[in-house]
Amino acid sequence: MLSLSHILDEQLQAAMQRAFPEVEAVLDPQLAPASKPEFGDFQANGALPLAKPLRQAPRQIAAAVVEQLQADVVFKELCLKPQIAGPGFINLTIRPERLAVELASRLGDSRLGVPEVENAAPVVVDFSSPNIAKEMHVGHLRSTIIGDSLARVLEFRGHPVLRLNHVGDWGTQFGMLITHLKQVAPDALETADAVDLGDLVAFYREAKKRFDDDEAFQTTSREEVVKLQGGDPVSLKAWGLLCDQSRREFQKLYDRLDIRLDERGESFYNSFLPAVLEGLDQVGLLVSDDGAQCVFLEGVSGKDGKPLPVIVRKSDGGFNYATTDLAAIRYRFAVDPDGDGARRVIYVTDAGQANHFAGVFQVAGRAGWIPEGGRLEHVPFGLVQGEDGKKLKTRAGDTVRLRDLLDEAVERAEADLRTRLEAEERSEPEEFISHVAGTVGLAAVKYADLSQNRITNYQFSFDRMLALQGNTAPYLLYAVVRIAGIARKGGDLDVSTAQLQFSEPQEWALVRELLKFDAVIVEVEEELLPNRLCSYLFELSQVFNRFYDQVPVLKADSEVLPSRLALCRLTADTLRLGLGLLGIPTLERM
Ligand code: ARG
Repeated sequence: MLSLSHILDEQLQAAMQRAFPEVEAVLDPQLAPASKPEFGDFQANGALPLAKPLRQAPRQIAAAVVEQLQADVVFKELCLKPQIAGPGFINLTIRPERLAVELASRLGDSRLGVPEVENAAPVVVDFSSPNIAKEMHVGHLRSTIIGDSLARVLEFRGHPVLRLNHVGDWGTQFGMLITHLKQVAPDALETADAVDLGDLVAFYREAKKRFDDDEAFQTTSREEVVKLQGGDPVSLKAWGLLCDQSRREFQKLYDRLDIRLDERGESFYNSFLPAVLEGLDQVGLLVSDDGAQCVFLEGVSGKDGKPLPVIVRKSDGGFNYATTDLAAIRYRFAVDPDGDGARRVIYVTDAGQANHFAGVFQVAGRAGWIPEGGRLEHVPFGLVQGEDGKKLKTRAGDTVRLRDLLDEAVERAEADLRTRLEAEERSEPEEFISHVAGTVGLAAVKYADLSQNRITNYQFSFDRMLALQGNTAPYLLYAVVRIAGIARKGGDLDVSTAQLQFSEPQEWALVRELLKFDAVIVEVEEELLPNRLCSYLFELSQVFNRFYDQVPVLKADSEVLPSRLALCRLTADTLRLGLGLLGIPTLERM
């Protein structure tokens, strides 16, 4: 109902201006969706802040605004008579016939009323971003799932989105790894596929252990990094092979989850690092401290009360994670051909990196590297915990491998499905079973993650995410299946009529719920909270199920049948589109 709310907003503002011509400032009606259905569709709270300047009771102000509204014929065609509630809220109810017209316009509209943005500009979504040769952990899985869904929403709104995989492919880990491999598996540094990636992670662990225990190894490793960063061909070749190995492993996971990403790792920004230092120096931000080059942060101090630094060059000459992020910010905002020309840059990582991003954003701002209207946003999320509330671990106490986690979700979905089929005395081909189990298992993992408020830690539970009841993927998928079943039973969902008529309260509740979709999408685009979309889709499914359980559809009288089928059809379309924006495909039968 976004377009209706825009119209209402203008009408209210004009009515306020007419009621109080003596006020010079532009008046804000403070229009918001009604907090409860009994309050109508919208409420306007703009009378309250006027009480003081106008020296009038807010209810009196509200009454004067309502009088003006009622004198406006266009408004009267749109709304029933407004009600004044509480201290001076104006409750607004859209005329049912207008809602029906609005709903009819959604039939056959593939965007379901969601407008496309007008001046689209590139948006960078920096997500997933695992580290080469290191384990990809559940935190990276969260980033992958959340980042993908945000990218999908932004793309749907019409923004050109750059889905960037900022992989850690340039750090000290390569020095250790190359030094270690030279001794234990030199083949891996010269020939592709000489070692399996599974081994690579093990090699990394061994190398890390040696690095921590052995000083000589440390020195060689550091020299190895300097060689690599200096462009030594032998080191570069070894590095390339190691990256390829990891990349192939990551790609398997992305393919499985249907995630599209463009890799642009830390190494990409290597040649831009010296310019970061020069740039900071030019604007007078660079300070030498104990041999390191840094920028001291404003308003952020350590335990000793002294301002904390962002170190851009270590005393050994090496650049830092933060330096690369500063170079990346400049590149992403720089216009073509020097960069991406982005206006909004979004980073999806665990909340543990909040200070890193706050520091880097501050430095970029003070250096003048954020263009006018440019936005840098960190999208933090909490930890994934086991059901015991502790860090997610296997029974043996190891970190959970992502592949195993997805396999288990699918296996459990399959077991549930087989039990259900048996109880329903249904027999289905194996192909059906593996397709449904695969879809439900992965959908459950994604949805469980997305439906949480991302900031809080989240407890991973296969039982909960696979339940057919509650705010889960299976519950939503089942609503779509139910509607597909209506078509199989002969209901013609291809309704094209513009003449919709509704009488039952369950129908009106569903109409109103369906019409909220556009506002929800725009909200997710702005607030970057996919859980809002999940809550909406869950609510919609519940309202639909209530309607379908209580109001006859296939057995309805012929004059109301098309309207009821239209409600079913739009519910399925909305769920399909909404779940699609979460990266979750739907099923026709399950
Ligand atoms: N590789 C990092 C990690 O695993 C995440 C990178 C996030 N993106 C960025 N531009 N810093 O923690």
